[in-house]
Amino acid sequence: MDKIIVEGGRRLSGEVEVSGAKNAALPLIFASLLTDRPCRLRGLPEVADIRTALGLLEHMGARVERWGSEATIDCSRLAETEAPYDLVRTMRASFLTLGPLLARFGKARVSRPGGCAIGSRPVDVHVAAMAALGARVEDEAGYIEARSGRLRASHVILEKPSVGATENLMMAASLAEGTTRVENAAREPEITDLAKALAAMGAGISGAGSSVIEVEGVERLGGFDHDVIPDRIEAGTFLIAGAITRGELSVRGARAGDLGALLEALRASGCSVDELEGAVRISADGPLRPVDIRTAPYPGFATDLQAQFMALMCTASGRSVITEAVFENRFMHVSELARMGADIRLSGHQAEVGGAAELAGAPVMATDLRASVCLVLAGLAAAGRTEISRVYHLDRGYERIEEKLGSVGARIERRPVQG
Ligand code: EPU
Repeated sequence: MDKIIVEGGRRLSGEVEVSGAKNAALPLIFASLLTDRPCRLRGLPEVADIRTALGLLEHMGARVERWGSEATIDCSRLAETEAPYDLVRTMRASFLTLGPLLARFGKARVSRPGGCAIGSRPVDVHVAAMAALGARVEDEAGYIEARSGRLRASHVILEKPSVGATENLMMAASLAEGTTRVENAAREPEITDLAKALAAMGAGISGAGSSVIEVEGVERLGGFDHDVIPDRIEAGTFLIAGAITRGELSVRGARAGDLGALLEALRASGCSVDELEGAVRISADGPLRPVDIRTAPYPGFATDLQAQFMALMCTASGRSVITEAVFENRFMHVSELARMGADIRLSGHQAEVGGAAELAGAPVMATDLRASVCLVLAGLAAAGRTEISRVYHLDRGYERIEEKLGSVGARIERRPVQG
């Protein structure tokens, strides 16, 4: 188990590059289950969740060849239609195998993901969507077991605009008979990226990016050759790193159009944000104003940037209120920030952040991916040394973060911990 050590108090400046989006790449990897043709992905981030996803496909009998950020996946000879507990437990996105397996093979057995550090995270919306396409779905000893003949298109109104349920449904509907209409669909850029790949495979898809998506299924799908979109959450994290150190950073690959709510909040706090060709540049100087945010499905403020923005607000000049409205329990970073001197009061879904904190380095512990990176950001702004343990959470979704932040002036290193 490694530790990350940050010596804070240095202004970041220069240019940093964003990797491909983990949350776009994961559904794309599982979309390869829909076809017996090879599927090629470019721009895969080198992070643990991608290795887990490719490992799950190999476990099922897929042939995976990977060179750096590219991979070819061949699911022509799959031996398994089960995603076992051990793999789904380590990565919830493995549940995205349900739709493609069911649609192509007429059966799937996928472990229930269970709870995680950010909430109970049920799968009822996914299950209802599969049932709407004609599958018989049973909850059997911790597994969701689904069976069907060829799936039949349907008019599905999702109870919540769940990102994963929208993805599972789009993938399954691509092999269903007829045209499926999905209402209250998630609108995240990752959904649009998946739609692009499914269209390349031969499905007829319209409306991705809006709350109504139509999917015209076909009998067989072909492969794809696809460039994963840049990671908007990594980009947003770097922009906040620039702001929290009162530095000046160009984040190459950041797409301003995917980051609207964050850029608005950063500008409201007094940062200067420039949208450039292929990059977003941030600069910040002196005290920042407090800004209230409320997380919401896209295009609202991303829950995946809430913890990072809270770290920034600890350094603003007054009180702000941060409301988490997507997940029930995504405030695990609060007690760790408090160890660094932050003044935060929690009440249900809201955190009142005192602001004007003189953050000081401390030993802290990562609890989930975004909570860990929020501690890195707080460490960059803090006086002295912050030691973050359990960095395997960070490694699930940030590629070479210590190298990237180090290249723009952060004093940050990774140390293996013995024993
Ligand atoms: N929900 C249900 N029932 C369901 C599905 C979801 O009640 O069947 C609830 C969840 O419990 C949650 C809300 O709906 O309260 C939204 O969950 P959603 O299904 O949209 O999230 P997800 O697909 O499981 C993806 C990202 C998350 C990100 C959320 C929200 C991937 C692999 N994961 O999760 O990313 O927070 O959307 O934007 O795409 C991360 O990268 O750190 C991360 C957690």
